[in-house]
This record gives sequence, C-alpha cells and structure tokens, in this order.
Amino acid sequence: MAVRTLLTRKTLSSFLRNDPKPIGTAAISAAASTQSRDLHVYTLPDLAYDYGALEPVISGEIMQLHHQKHHQTYVTNYNKALEQLHDTVGKADASATVKLQSAIKFNGGGHINHSIFWKNLAPVREGGGEPPKEALGWAIDDHFGSLEALIQKVNAEGAALQGSGWVWLSLDKDSKRLTVETTANQDPLVTKGPFLVPLLGIDVWEHAYYLQYKNVRPDYLKNIWKVINWKYASEVYEKEAYLVNQEDRP
Ligand SMILES: [Fe+2]
Repeated sequence: MAVRTLLTRKTLSSFLRNDPKPIGTAAISAAASTQSRDLHVYTLPDLAYDYGALEPVISGEIMQLHHQKHHQTYVTNYNKALEQLHDTVGKADASATVKLQSAIKFNGGGHINHSIFWKNLAPVREGGGEPPKEALGWAIDDHFGSLEALIQKVNAEGAALQGSGWVWLSLDKDSKRLTVETTANQDPLVTKGPFLVPLLGIDVWEHAYYLQYKNVRPDYLKNIWKVINWKYASEVYEKEAYLVNQEDRP
C-alpha cells in the first residue's frame, strides 16, 4: 500500500505541477474520498471582470457560456481522468493508464489554456487594448518590426489554423526569442517545445466567437486586440526573462 501511494503521488505530480491552486475536495465523490484523499482537485478559476465587461468585442453571453460551460467541462473531465489515473496506476494496469493519456492531455490542456486566456483579456476601462510598453514592447519591435506586424502575423496564423486550436505569442526561454505558435485542439503551448512560455493565447475554437461573429473568425481576431491585457503579458515576460538571466549567471 505504501509503495502504491508513493508511485501515485510521483506520477500525479508531473501532471499537477503546472497549477499552483490549492487542493479542494468538491469534485471527489464520497465513495472515492478515502482512496483519493491525496488527489488535488482542480476548480474553475474566477474571472477578474464581469461577463459583459468585454462588450462589444466579446458578448457577455459568449463569455458566460465559455467560462461556465466549456471551461467547467474541461475541469470536470480533467479531475475525472486524474481520479481514473490514480486508480489505474495503483492497479499497475498499464493499458488502462496509457488509454487515459488523451483525456488528460485534452482536458488538462483545456484547463491550462483557458486559465491563461481569461488573464489575457481585460475590459477597455481597465487597460484592455493598451499597447505593451518597455521590455515587452521593445522585444516585440525587435522580433517582429512593430506591434502592428505582430498582430497581422497572429491574425494570419490564427485564421489559417484548420479546425479548432490556439494561436500564441510565446517566449522561447532557450533562444530568448519571441515566437508566434499555433496548437491544435486543446494542446497547451508546452507541447510545441519545453522552453516555450505563453505570453498571450487566443482561443480560435468556434465556441469562442460563433454566437457573435458566426463563421467569420478573422473579424473576431481583428477585434480581440481591443481587449487584450498586455499588462499581464508584460508581467509574464519580465518575470520569465529575469529568470532566464538568473539561470545564465555563473
Ligand atoms: Fe475555449
């Protein structure tokens, strides 16, 4: 039993390390609570603004559905998959454990990506759409020529992405360069490279815009910049760039 607990904790830690949220018990069933008492349960993060605060760029109806229904479903299914993983690892059922990986990637990725997305947005009256300044602003100019050139690149790659997915502005901590990346489905940015840090992620799933923009994804992409929270992206950039510099010191 002690070995099983140790193995389970070790395995789960690799999946849980990206979410510093404290552990709750809300989604654990009473029947499973004894066996799963060490499991962390992910919860839907609150938004820092009202659902209607991003209008007219993104309607309150879209925001509410997107947050309460879509993101909540990823959270619920991620917790469910982790409970199942706890069980299959404990039983040394390799086949069942491997079978869970796609559900963990999809729903865990959905939770990671949306948690970033909400922070990437801000109402206009709270600074949404204000261009990045200082370090990130200078880095964007260096890597893309101008903020406008970056926006055009993100919009082009986001519009060209087939099916559902995400378009990202990322910092490559290894090369120390800013890059534009896309990921399919709910793949988080880290699946494209271990050193990629998401500064800005835009959800291009239809559920993010269809009720308002119908099938015209380019219009959604064109407008979303009016509510992009560059302050958050700048804070992440400065923190991560500082860490890179720290690591480089002898
Ligand atoms: Fe979404």
